Amino acid sequence: MSVLQLFPPDGSGQNLQGLYLAMSLHQQASADDVFIYANYIASLDGRIAMEKADSGEFEVPASIANPRDWRLYQELAAQSDVMLTSARYFRQLAKGCAQDLLPVGEGDDYADLVRWRREHGLKPQPDVMVLSSSLDLPLAALQSLTDRQVIIVTGSSSDANKRALLEAAGFPVLLAGDGRIVEGGRLKQLLIEHGYRSAYMIAGPEVHGALLSAGVLDELFLTTHLSLLGGDRFYTIAGRELKKTVGLQIQSLYLDQLDTGSQLFARFRVCDREPLTDMEVGS
Ligand SMILES: NC(=O)c1ccc[n+]([C@@H]2O[C@H](COP(=O)([O-])OP(=O)(O)OC[C@H]3O[C@@H](n4cnc5c(N)ncnc54)[C@H](OP(=O)(O)O)[C@@H]3O)[C@@H](O)[C@H]2O)c1
Repeated sequence: MSVLQLFPPDGSGQNLQGLYLAMSLHQQASADDVFIYANYIASLDGRIAMEKADSGEFEVPASIANPRDWRLYQELAAQSDVMLTSARYFRQLAKGCAQDLLPVGEGDDYADLVRWRREHGLKPQPDVMVLSSSLDLPLAALQSLTDRQVIIVTGSSSDANKRALLEAAGFPVLLAGDGRIVEGGRLKQLLIEHGYRSAYMIAGPEVHGALLSAGVLDELFLTTHLSLLGGDRFYTIAGRELKKTVGLQIQSLYLDQLDTGSQLFARFRVCDREPLTDMEVGS
């Protein structure tokens, strides 16, 4: 089943498989730079996670998660040198309620992605950087990723004993902020210093907000599932702490029209500018 290209407008059908893989995101960064991109699936009313009544945990709603979006998620992962995620992901993993985010290409349906990485000179799996202020990270969950480098990133005021314990367990801890919080600009600098050329941000709104506020996110991939979820206990993609309005320019838009649930696949470039004031619009 193909998807319909709406923008740039040409109305052609495109295969879902390979749609994002053709973007060569691992080659977008200019010399001595890194290309950082994020990806979400949201309902039409903007929910990326809802609170589960029984556990109190926030999870991606099962009614919008779907294999066609997951295929594109994996294609984006395949093009990354490193995936940026949150401490909370590993805490949820330890409790058995995390969405399965890793690794790339597990199972026959995704074997082509493992091959694609090999053919394009990338390591079998992207590294993982975990952002945390608290450093409350379950070691067993971190250790479950045996096939790639896992690095912790935190602020320099975080707990030094916890940092030492993580280092002793084999997880390098890097500092990217003067307080306990990781600053987006410092994180980008770290990525460049470590030779990463493409970084895929798969965390929630806080990490996303840190990147957007610092103006270091290059692109946003957003799947909008055409369903309304309602409710008042949810996350959106931008979080509470966005320090400025962020402008976006659409690069591509596809319609995935299915009887079982339709969705839009959008790719945006972040313009990182404040909107025009009323006075500027009028002049
Ligand atoms: N629908 C989707 O596409 C999608 C995608 C991603 C996530 N989600 C969902 O959204 C919800 C929230 O996700 P999340 O927990 O990954 O989100 P998050 O809000 O980005 O991250 C939360 C945790 O990450 C650490 N963190 C965030 N920003 C930091 C910074 N600047 N410096 C240092 N540490 C920082 C903190 O860990 P410490 O507490 O250890 O300090 C914080 O508790 C989850 O339910 C998840 O499943 C949905």
